[in-house]
Amino acid sequence: MNNFTFHNPTAVYFGEGTVARLGELARPYGKTALLVYGGGSIKKTGLYDQVLEQLASAGIRTVELSGIEPNPRLTTIHKGIALCRSEQVELVLAVGGGSVLDAAKAIAAGALYDGDVWDFCMQKAVIQDALPLGTILTLAATGSEMNGNAVVTNWEEKLKRAFGSKHTYPRFSILDPTLTYTVPADQTVNGVVDMMSHVFEQYFSLTPDTPLQERMCESVLQTVIENAEKALAAPDDYSARANLMWCGTMALNGGLISVGMQNDWASHGIEHEISAIYDIPHGAGLAIVFPNWMKYVCSERTDRFAQYAERVWGIERAGRTDEEMALAGIDATRAFFSRIGAPSTLADFGIGGEQLDRMAAEAVRFGPIGSFRKLEQADVKAILEMCL
Ligand code: NZQ
Ligand code: ZN
Repeated sequence: MNNFTFHNPTAVYFGEGTVARLGELARPYGKTALLVYGGGSIKKTGLYDQVLEQLASAGIRTVELSGIEPNPRLTTIHKGIALCRSEQVELVLAVGGGSVLDAAKAIAAGALYDGDVWDFCMQKAVIQDALPLGTILTLAATGSEMNGNAVVTNWEEKLKRAFGSKHTYPRFSILDPTLTYTVPADQTVNGVVDMMSHVFEQYFSLTPDTPLQERMCESVLQTVIENAEKALAAPDDYSARANLMWCGTMALNGGLISVGMQNDWASHGIEHEISAIYDIPHGAGLAIVFPNWMKYVCSERTDRFAQYAERVWGIERAGRTDEEMALAGIDATRAFFSRIGAPSTLADFGIGGEQLDRMAAEAVRFGPIGSFRKLEQADVKAILEMCL
C-alpha cells in the first residue's frame, strides 16, 4: 500500500425528505444564490418549486442559469460566470445530474479567476479559490456530489477535459433517492455503468498489499449489480435507488475505496474523446470502451482479473487458469452490460472509424495514459478499433 492523505470536506445529507433542509444549509453562505439546472427535469418533478421555496424561506435571493447540457458546454458555463459577477452571487447551487454539478463547479471556480475557466481544463492554470457550492443530486452516476472533479466540453474545439481541485468539493450535498425515481431507464443504465467503471479504474491496479481497498471495491460492484435490475424493473423501488445512489457516491468520492492505490483512468480518457466528438452519454461510451480495455490489458495482471471474476461474479475456479478466469470475468461484465441494455459497440451509435486517429492523438495529448498499463497513441487506437 502506498502512503496517502485522505480528506473529504463534503457534508452529505442522505435520505427521503432531505431537500427540506436546503434553506438551513444554504443560509450561512450569504444572500444571493445562483441556481444551476439542466433541461427541465427538475420542473417536471416539482423539485424546482421546492428549491425556490427553501431558498426564499432562508431569505436568499435566487438568480437562475438553466439549460445545462448533458456533457456540459463551456459556452454555457461562461454565462454562469458572468451572472455570478453581475449579480454578486455568494453561493452556487447545482440541482441535477453530474453535468449540472460539473458545470456549477466550473462556474464557482471561474467566477473567482481572471482568465478563462478553460485554462483549468487544459492544465494552463490551477484553481486557487472558488465560490461555495451546494448540490442536490437527481441522478446516481458520477460521484460529482462528493468529489472536486468536473468535466467540461469545449464543443467548438471538440474537446472534453476534466479538472479537479480541493476548492470545488461541494460544501454540502443533498442526496434524496426518491429524486431519482424519474430517471429514465437508459440514464439509469448509463449511471450504473459509470459508477462501476469508476470502481474499475481504481481496482485494476498494480499496487500490492491493498486487501481492504480491493474488498471495498468489490462490495461496491456487487451492490450495484444486485440493485441495477431492481431499479430498472421498479423505478420507484426506494431500496434499490438508495443503494445505487450511495454506491455512485462511494465509487468516486476522492478515492476512499482506493486510498494508497495507484489508479488508472485510461478508459475514462478514451471515452471522453468519443463523447467530445459524438456527444454520446458518458456511461454509454464506457460500456463500449471498458470491456475492450480489460481485454487489451488483462495480461498485465491476470491474478487481479481472476480475483474479480471469482469475487464479484461468483465464477468458480473449477481448475481454470488465471487467464481463463480473467476472460470469464470480462465476458460476465460484457454480458451484464448487455442484459441491462447498455450499448456494446460504437456502431450502436452509428459511429465508424473516421475519427479514430484524432481521438487516439487527443487522448495522449499530455503523455501516455493509464497506469495498469501505460497506453501510447497506438494502444488507444487499437482499443478504439476493438470498440467499432
Ligand atoms: O437536463 P435535465 O432536464 O435535468 O435532464 C437530465 C439529462 O438529460 C436527465 N436527468 C437527470 N436527473 C433526472 C433526469 N431525468 C429525469 N429525472 C431525473 N431525476 O438525465 C440526463 C443526463 O444527465 P447528466 O447530468 O448528463 O448525467 P450524468 O449524471 O451521467 O453526468 C454525466 C456528465 O458527468 C461527467 C461526464 O463526462 C458527463 O459530462 N462526469 C463527471 C465526473 C465527476 N465530476 O467526477 C466523473 C465521471 O466520470 C464523468 O466523466
Ligand atoms: Zn465516469
